[in-house]
Amino acid sequence: MALAASLSLAACGSTPPSLSEGRRVFVGAGCGGCHTLAAAGTHGTLGPDFNTSERLDEAQIRLQLRVGGGGMPPFDHRLTPREQEAVAHFVATAMARRRPRLGQ
Ligand code: HEC
Repeated sequence: MALAASLSLAACGSTPPSLSEGRRVFVGAGCGGCHTLAAAGTHGTLGPDFNTSERLDEAQIRLQLRVGGGGMPPFDHRLTPREQEAVAHFVATAMARRRPRLGQ
Protein backbone atom coordinates (compact mmCIF):
# COMPACT_ATOMS: atom_id res chain seq x y z
CA MET A 1 0.00 0.00 0.00
CA ALA A 2 2.77 2.41 0.94
CA LEU A 3 4.66 1.31 -2.15
CA ALA A 4 1.72 2.06 -4.43
CA ALA A 5 1.31 5.48 -2.83
CA SER A 6 4.96 6.40 -3.25
CA LEU A 7 4.98 5.16 -6.84
CA SER A 8 2.00 7.27 -7.78
CA LEU A 9 3.55 10.32 -6.08
CA ALA A 10 6.83 9.68 -7.86
CA ALA A 11 4.94 9.73 -11.11
CA CYS A 12 3.89 13.29 -10.33
CA GLY A 13 7.50 14.41 -10.28
CA SER A 14 8.37 14.87 -6.63
CA THR A 15 7.74 12.92 -3.48
CA PRO A 16 7.09 14.74 -0.23
CA PRO A 17 9.82 14.17 2.36
CA SER A 18 9.34 11.08 4.50
CA LEU A 19 9.31 11.08 8.28
CA SER A 20 12.62 9.23 8.32
CA GLU A 21 14.14 11.95 6.15
CA GLY A 22 12.88 14.55 8.64
CA ARG A 23 14.27 12.58 11.54
CA ARG A 24 17.69 12.49 9.86
CA VAL A 25 17.59 16.28 9.43
CA PHE A 26 16.50 16.76 13.05
CA VAL A 27 19.45 14.75 14.32
CA GLY A 28 21.93 15.82 11.63
CA ALA A 29 21.23 19.57 11.90
CA GLY A 30 21.66 19.46 15.66
CA CYS A 31 18.03 20.23 16.63
CA GLY A 32 18.35 17.41 19.15
CA GLY A 33 21.27 19.15 20.81
CA CYS A 34 18.79 21.73 22.11
CA HIS A 35 15.42 19.96 21.91
CA THR A 36 14.13 16.79 23.52
CA LEU A 37 11.95 14.69 21.21
CA ALA A 38 11.15 11.05 21.86
CA ALA A 39 10.52 10.31 18.17
CA ALA A 40 14.11 11.37 17.42
CA GLY A 41 15.64 9.93 20.60
CA THR A 42 17.14 13.31 21.59
CA HIS A 43 17.45 14.92 25.00
CA GLY A 44 18.56 18.53 24.49
CA THR A 45 17.47 20.97 27.16
CA LEU A 46 18.30 24.45 25.82
CA GLY A 47 15.05 24.81 23.86
CA PRO A 48 11.47 23.66 24.46
CA ASP A 49 10.91 19.94 25.09
CA PHE A 50 8.83 18.78 22.11
CA ASN A 51 7.41 15.88 24.09
CA THR A 52 5.54 18.33 26.29
CA SER A 53 5.58 21.79 24.66
CA GLU A 54 2.61 23.34 22.92
CA ARG A 55 1.66 21.59 19.68
CA LEU A 56 2.70 23.47 16.57
CA ASP A 57 1.76 22.95 12.95
CA GLU A 58 4.22 22.73 10.08
CA ALA A 59 3.84 26.40 9.15
CA GLN A 60 4.70 27.52 12.69
CA ILE A 61 7.74 25.26 12.75
CA ARG A 62 8.94 26.48 9.36
CA LEU A 63 8.59 30.07 10.52
CA GLN A 64 10.75 29.32 13.57
CA LEU A 65 13.34 27.70 11.28
CA ARG A 66 13.43 30.75 9.03
CA VAL A 67 13.71 33.40 11.70
CA GLY A 68 15.06 31.60 14.77
CA GLY A 69 15.12 33.86 17.82
CA GLY A 70 14.89 33.49 21.57
CA GLY A 71 18.23 31.68 21.66
CA MET A 72 17.67 29.57 18.55
CA PRO A 73 19.76 30.32 15.45
CA PRO A 74 17.90 30.66 12.13
CA PHE A 75 18.29 27.65 9.85
CA ASP A 76 17.28 29.24 6.57
CA HIS A 77 20.84 29.32 5.25
CA ARG A 78 21.84 25.98 6.79
CA LEU A 79 19.06 23.75 5.49
CA THR A 80 17.65 23.42 1.98
CA PRO A 81 13.94 24.18 1.53
CA ARG A 82 13.34 20.42 1.27
CA GLU A 83 15.23 19.75 4.51
CA GLN A 84 13.19 22.46 6.25
CA GLU A 85 9.99 20.92 4.90
CA ALA A 86 11.13 17.46 6.00
CA VAL A 87 12.06 18.44 9.54
CA ALA A 88 8.91 20.56 10.01
CA HIS A 89 6.76 17.65 8.81
CA PHE A 90 8.58 15.26 11.14
CA VAL A 91 8.28 17.47 14.24
CA ALA A 92 4.62 18.40 13.54
CA THR A 93 3.75 14.72 13.06
CA ALA A 94 5.54 13.70 16.24
CA MET A 95 3.64 16.40 18.14
CA ALA A 96 0.32 15.37 16.63
CA ARG A 97 0.88 11.72 17.51
CA ARG A 98 1.88 12.11 21.11
CA ARG A 99 -0.57 11.36 23.86
CA PRO A 100 -1.15 13.49 26.91
CA ARG A 101 0.95 12.25 29.80
CA LEU A 102 -1.32 11.44 32.65
CA GLY A 103 0.13 11.80 36.08
CA GLN A 104 3.80 11.75 35.10
C1 HEC B 1 21.26 26.24 19.92
C2 HEC B 1 20.06 25.58 20.39
C3 HEC B 1 18.98 25.26 19.38
C4 HEC B 1 19.06 24.55 18.21
C5 HEC B 1 20.30 23.94 17.57
C6 HEC B 1 17.72 24.44 17.70
N1 HEC B 1 16.85 25.10 18.51
FE1 HEC B 1 14.85 25.26 18.23
N2 HEC B 1 14.72 26.51 19.84
C7 HEC B 1 15.78 26.81 20.70
C8 HEC B 1 15.29 27.73 21.74
C9 HEC B 1 16.11 28.29 22.88
C10 HEC B 1 13.92 27.96 21.44
C11 HEC B 1 12.94 28.88 22.21
C12 HEC B 1 12.81 30.15 21.43
C13 HEC B 1 11.84 31.13 22.09
O1 HEC B 1 11.46 30.91 23.23
O2 HEC B 1 11.49 32.11 21.43
C14 HEC B 1 13.62 27.17 20.26
C15 HEC B 1 12.36 27.11 19.67
C16 HEC B 1 12.01 26.24 18.66
C17 HEC B 1 10.68 26.09 18.14
C18 HEC B 1 9.42 26.83 18.65
C19 HEC B 1 8.93 26.08 19.86
C20 HEC B 1 7.70 26.68 20.48
O3 HEC B 1 7.11 26.00 21.33
O4 HEC B 1 7.34 27.82 20.15
C21 HEC B 1 10.74 25.15 17.16
C22 HEC B 1 9.58 24.61 16.34
C23 HEC B 1 12.12 24.74 17.05
N3 HEC B 1 12.86 25.42 17.98
C24 HEC B 1 12.57 23.80 16.16
C25 HEC B 1 13.90 23.51 15.96
C26 HEC B 1 14.40 22.65 14.90
C27 HEC B 1 13.52 21.88 13.93
C28 HEC B 1 15.75 22.69 14.98
C29 HEC B 1 16.76 22.03 14.05
C30 HEC B 1 16.70 22.42 12.65
C31 HEC B 1 16.10 23.53 16.11
N4 HEC B 1 14.96 24.01 16.67
C32 HEC B 1 17.39 23.78 16.53
C33 HEC B 1 17.05 26.34 20.61
C34 HEC B 1 17.57 25.61 19.55
